[in-house]
Amino acid sequence: MKKKLLDILVCPACLPAEKRFTETVQNEHDDDIITGVLTCSCCGSKFQIESGTAILDPEIYLCDAYADNKYETSSVVSSYLWSHYSDLLHEENSSDAYRQWADLMKPHTGLCVDAGCAVGRFAFEMTTKCDFVIGVDNARAFIRNARELLINRRTTITLKEEGFITRTVDFALPEEWDSRKAEFIVADALSLPFRADSVSSLASLNLIDKVPLPLQHLQEANRVTRQHKAQFLLSDPYSWSEEVAQERNWLGGQKHGTYASHGQENILNLLTRENGLLQPSWTLETCGRLWWKIRTHANHYEQIRSCYLKAAR
Ligand SMILES: C[S@@+](CC[C@H](N)C(=O)[O-])C[C@H]1O[C@@H](n2cnc3c(N)ncnc32)[C@H](O)[C@@H]1O
Repeated sequence: MKKKLLDILVCPACLPAEKRFTETVQNEHDDDIITGVLTCSCCGSKFQIESGTAILDPEIYLCDAYADNKYETSSVVSSYLWSHYSDLLHEENSSDAYRQWADLMKPHTGLCVDAGCAVGRFAFEMTTKCDFVIGVDNARAFIRNARELLINRRTTITLKEEGFITRTVDFALPEEWDSRKAEFIVADALSLPFRADSVSSLASLNLIDKVPLPLQHLQEANRVTRQHKAQFLLSDPYSWSEEVAQERNWLGGQKHGTYASHGQENILNLLTRENGLLQPSWTLETCGRLWWKIRTHANHYEQIRSCYLKAAR
């Protein structure tokens, strides 16, 4: 973890109070802490830095979240590496959805956060548009792969062709994506370890239907983003599911109740309503839909329509 994050991070267990960490560094390399412990100056919670990855999700220390998380499996990591980087590989059926999402963002000063960043494509794109980007995800396997790309700037993906037949593809990050301007951490999008009013742009791509408390995710995104001169990009297929969130917590897809109707409409209302839950209110810049793809094997792809909205305040 780059040492400059020590000035940015606050203890996720103490939110909304903003408590700094004291660091114990066991092993470092240049400006990176490779092994160490971050201890909250208030509650005393300890968060590990292992192989350069800071693990700031309190849930991970409470239960074996690793065992239940499908995003931790090597086949899903490979699918997401393909999904994020297939256009650079000139793969058949590749998708350039992440470049399209990045094109919606304006260059800005300060910090960008990519919440639910998976293997990092959007975060890397944003290194060309702002001072620093932090990719946040609660799946350690995704963050480990994103950090390996950040450091080695190349990787080999093993792609399933059919059954046990696989093929490998290599790729390198384009030179314009600056590794000095990005970091990836394990953290929870419902308890972001950042100060209020500290983030200039925040992206939440295909995440809100994957968290147990979608409204809390929006409130967290709203808390950490700057009150003025901030950008917010949210995109989602709104695949609400009771496996992820109880129906009463969905922000759409219901016939009755506060969030009856479609997720996109409800989230837009939440963001733009004067004196609503999310203050200061946001102004919609643009909205639309784009196709995003995930590859399972040579003959099986999921094509997902992700509905985006881009707001500013
Ligand atoms: C459907 S994937 C989308 C990934 C990426 N944003 C993209 O569009 O390719 C959902 C992502 O959210 C992450 N995720 C799920 N719940 C999370 C949480 N509470 N905090 C942080 N990340 C979470 C998953 O690990 C996964 O990377």
